[in-house]
Amino acid sequence: MATIKWRESYATGIEQFDQEHQKIVTLINSMFEAIRDKKGIEDVTALLEELVKYTEYHFDNEEQAMEEANYSELPDHKAEHEKLKEESVNFQARLEKNFNNGAKDFYRFLREWLTEHILECDMKYSEYLSKK
Ligand code: FEO
Repeated sequence: MATIKWRESYATGIEQFDQEHQKIVTLINSMFEAIRDKKGIEDVTALLEELVKYTEYHFDNEEQAMEEANYSELPDHKAEHEKLKEESVNFQARLEKNFNNGAKDFYRFLREWLTEHILECDMKYSEYLSKK
């Protein structure tokens, strides 16, 4: 496993969201480094909480922009966000029960989910919102 590197191909072209996505990537990487460097549960949990909080802030921003632009795929996109929020709660519970496996699983999950979410779902709004 390695840290996630931001690529230009992840850019939606909407500056605010690209900056927020980059911040999320930085937070995921910080969590990865804490796990890799065998930091304790307190440090990893604190990073996880920060990540979850920031991701929710980002989701709210995206949803508001999509709503203001009358973006027709908002319900599907919102459902994807909800799925991640639910999974985050499940992982937080797992982390408390089995710290070692829970932390690694969460990192893998986030890495795949977020890069896939940005590349598939977020890219769909990119062209539509850029024209607004
Ligand atoms: Fe950038 Fe839909 O999350």
